[in-house]
Amino acid sequence: MTSLVCIDGELMEPAAARVPVFDRGFLYGDSVYEVVRTYLGVPFHLDRHLERLERSAAALELALPPRATLVAWLKSALRAAGNPESYARLIVTRGSGPITLDPTTADRPRTVLLVKALEPYPAWMYAQGIKVSVPAIRRNPRAALDPSVKSGNYLNNVLALGQARRAGFDDALLLDIRGRVTEGSSSNVFAVRGGSLLTPPLETGLLHGVTRALVLELAGQVGLQAHERELEVADLARADELWLTSTLREVLPVVRLDEATIGAGAPGPRYRAMAERLHAHALDWARAAAADFWREP
Ligand code: PDD
Repeated sequence: MTSLVCIDGELMEPAAARVPVFDRGFLYGDSVYEVVRTYLGVPFHLDRHLERLERSAAALELALPPRATLVAWLKSALRAAGNPESYARLIVTRGSGPITLDPTTADRPRTVLLVKALEPYPAWMYAQGIKVSVPAIRRNPRAALDPSVKSGNYLNNVLALGQARRAGFDDALLLDIRGRVTEGSSSNVFAVRGGSLLTPPLETGLLHGVTRALVLELAGQVGLQAHERELEVADLARADELWLTSTLREVLPVVRLDEATIGAGAPGPRYRAMAERLHAHALDWARAAAADFWREP
């Protein structure tokens, strides 16, 4: 299992990787990033992740290297690492400069790519389901730091997860300042009630998850009717099933929400159907996309 780092196109061992302390990503979280994973060695829905990276960068007025360059660096890092399945984190910072908040003083964007063997979430989480807490800290309002921007500034989520973990829970679910459900600390949330699959609308202020969009697209295929609608904690607490979704988790069942037991207190049949459907979609997608991805430009 090999981990590699690529900084502005230069591949190196993780121990040799260096970023200047004047980099604004380090000083201010002034950066954007994406996490992708491979199926059959192919980065899953890479285009959707790169589109989101471009939207995030545009929102911060941060210039990205051309998409073809990012893809070429990712390919060479994946090839050099040679893991059966990979995790890749693509970070672009605004670059270095003098110590001032003024973003116009940055020199040029710096791209850091981290590639390592994919480490799946523990099997017990899928077998038993996880416990999630709603901490006191609220999700950033869209007018402050829009949660649809995947920036390097994750302190809101870090603090939420810390509060939940200290209280003995596996993950955190964040409300907005009005008390509506937004998303998990690094995942989107879904509730099943009868034949309906419910998730908060994007306007609530949350990350436009790639997995979230796929689950909405696949809902009909597992007999669920998808609805994007505002949800409160009470709506989730009385759901038949509750799931978190993300690139790394795929679909993860939640069986406790603070003091409430969800459904029968065990992963439900709808979860299993969606998890299987999503996994099958991922493998079909990877088989179809492989030749195109590895073709030389
Ligand atoms: N995070 N919401 C937040 C706040 C996230 O950080 C993530 C993903 C998601 C799910 O998005 P997607 O389905 O596109 O992975 C939702 C990545 C995986 C991470 O930071 O590790």
